[in-house]
Amino acid sequence: MTISHSPAETIAFARTLAATLRRGDVLALSGDLGAGKTHFVKGLAAGLGTTASVTSPTFTLLHEYPGGRLPLYHFDFYRLDDADEALKIGLDEYLDGDGVCVIEWAEKFPTLLPPHTRWLRFTHREDGARVIEETIAP
Ligand SMILES: Nc1ncnc2c1ncn2[C@@H]1O[C@H](COP(=O)(O)OP(=O)(O)OP(=O)(O)O)[C@@H](O)[C@H]1O
Ligand SMILES: [Mg+2]
Repeated sequence: MTISHSPAETIAFARTLAATLRRGDVLALSGDLGAGKTHFVKGLAAGLGTTASVTSPTFTLLHEYPGGRLPLYHFDFYRLDDADEALKIGLDEYLDGDGVCVIEWAEKFPTLLPPHTRWLRFTHREDGARVIEETIAP
């Protein structure tokens, strides 16, 4: 479990984690609205060395960040209404692909993700801090 007191701390945590990632890894992010999932992805992208800037893919479902040690594929299931939409844009190919996949709001469609997925839950504490903890699949 990690406690983050600022956006910069969340980014730094993800940057460190990025160094351990390997081709084919899948990170599923779940938890509270505005708890820092997109900031975490910013840290992953920075840690992998992509130069592209990270924005929330809420309206596009997928952003790709090439050019780093591994390509990063950033999904957001927040506005996804059914699993077919994700499959139509090739989710399975990305999951089986040459890079790392990170999925915000993954708990909406957990069965779309492979068994080796690592689950991270983000919660917004009353004092403003964010708690990031690894969990089992929902
Ligand atoms: N410790 C922290 N870590 C990350 N963000 C923080 C932290 N403390 C405050 N914030 C603020 O909380 C917001 C987090 O936004 P972010 O888009 O990363 O959250 P999110 O979990 O992706 O939201 P959503 O559920 O809408 O996808 C930002 O406005 C950021 O400045
Ligand atoms: Mg987000």
